[in-house]
Amino acid sequence: MADKKTDAPMPVHIGVIMDGNGRWAKKRGLPRKFGHREGAKTFRKIVRHAKELGVKYITFYAFSTENWRRPDDEVQAIMKLFDKYLDDFDDFLKEHVRMKFIGDKSMLSESLQTKMARCEELSKDYDIMTLIIAVNYGGRDEITNAARLIAEDVKAGKIDPADVDEELLQSKLYTDGIPDVDLIIRPSGEQRLSNFLIWQSAYAEYYFTDILWPDFSKKDFERAIEEYKDRHRRFGGV
Ligand code: IPE
Ligand code: IPE
Ligand code: MG
Repeated sequence: MADKKTDAPMPVHIGVIMDGNGRWAKKRGLPRKFGHREGAKTFRKIVRHAKELGVKYITFYAFSTENWRRPDDEVQAIMKLFDKYLDDFDDFLKEHVRMKFIGDKSMLSESLQTKMARCEELSKDYDIMTLIIAVNYGGRDEITNAARLIAEDVKAGKIDPADVDEELLQSKLYTDGIPDVDLIIRPSGEQRLSNFLIWQSAYAEYYFTDILWPDFSKKDFERAIEEYKDRHRRFGGV
């Protein structure tokens, strides 16, 4: 086992809770939507950097199942931004980044759903890096949905209740086929998960920083990875 941090393994899957956009705008006396616009630029920058560093899976929390509680004009501004950004995702396609969207897409506009499906379809065979974007995502919603799918299979006589194990439940999550998250980064000073990847983070390491997401730099991302490499993960063992 390598104990020098530079030799320690990279996190295979990194989760990022993109928080602090609103406060970034407020500090500048701007409407919150300007913070989201700036945060979207940080998103692009960190995706590129993750790819350069050789990260295999990265999930960005973009909109939670609870974020619908925000004022309508803010929700609309965020949705508009997604729509615009999805057009720019052709750049990621050119770079052979595989894209996947997790969450309950049925509540999103037709336009968004079509664009998401297109990106997923066109990039499905790429394997340099998998970029996962959580939109209308909630960990509880995801687990509830998995339970419903299993109940349907039981009802249809396809499986027996005794067959329900962790592996089966995991296969019904939106993240089926994606390894558990190793490192979760949350900027903005909040130290909570806010319903992000609650099943997948059972043994994740956390990195919290007070920096607001629009100000989050490549260096901050590297710092989080370095700190991760210094941690000792035991997974219940010794
Ligand atoms: C995160 O930034 C973006 C979304 C939740 C869509 P916030 O909008 O939560 O920013 P703060 O937390 O209010 O500063
Ligand atoms: C979490 O941030 C959701 C996203 C970043 C998309 P929130 O700002 O919604 O979380 P809370 O409300 O502070 O817990
Ligand atoms: Mg927030």
